[in-house]
Amino acid sequence: MQLKLKVWRQSNPEQSGHLKDYQLSGVSPDMSFLELLDLLNEQLIAAGQDPVEFDHDCREGICGSCDLMINGQAHGPQQRTATCQLYMRNFDDGDTIVIEPWRAQALPIVKDLVVDRSAFDRIMTAGGFISVKTGSAPEANSILVAPAQAQSAFDYATCIGCGACVAACPNASASLFTAAKVAHLALLPQGHPERQQRVLKMTEQMSAEGFGDCSNHGECEAVCPKGISIDAIATMRREYFRAIL
Ligand code: FES
Repeated sequence: MQLKLKVWRQSNPEQSGHLKDYQLSGVSPDMSFLELLDLLNEQLIAAGQDPVEFDHDCREGICGSCDLMINGQAHGPQQRTATCQLYMRNFDDGDTIVIEPWRAQALPIVKDLVVDRSAFDRIMTAGGFISVKTGSAPEANSILVAPAQAQSAFDYATCIGCGACVAACPNASASLFTAAKVAHLALLPQGHPERQQRVLKMTEQMSAEGFGDCSNHGECEAVCPKGISIDAIATMRREYFRAIL
């Protein structure tokens, strides 16, 4: 396959960036999207040019590092798929692909396609934890959890914190991310000791980081690579009102 890439290049947070054109040939339909960027970087390095900076780690859809806006869609055209799990067979020979970083005030660009997602870490530090004692695994039946409840908690726990929800939201809201964490822990008995302070502190931190409010557009749910339902946000709101009352 032969592709034309328009890639966001920005040398540091202070300087403005621009889309730079690259022609790439020899692209296999079986390559992942990150392997496409690897191929581009090999060619740039061979030509003595600066490679394109982009984040990645697991390349297995687990870590949430591969945060790219592809043709205006967070993680590209395939639903419920992180960028690292997106394959070039989803594109056609001769396509032009525009590759940009997430755009949100609270997730500032560091360089090229890399954004600073430490705001998510601070939201987690504010309350995304439980106070169970560590040690050996407890006996499985010592705390009973209904299967449906456990399944919902697990669904919310699949959030990989990639930030696609923020990038797709017109308000740059981190509500789906924060709600997934709040709902996951609120559904399990182990999360109940900090239940009230958790939702208050995490939502407070979310606002302090500069994320916008949720106005129920639903774009977050549409682009979430793990298919996390916007129902999580309704749960977070209920948890919030429960806490302040
Ligand atoms: S690189 Fe880890 S989820 Fe994509």
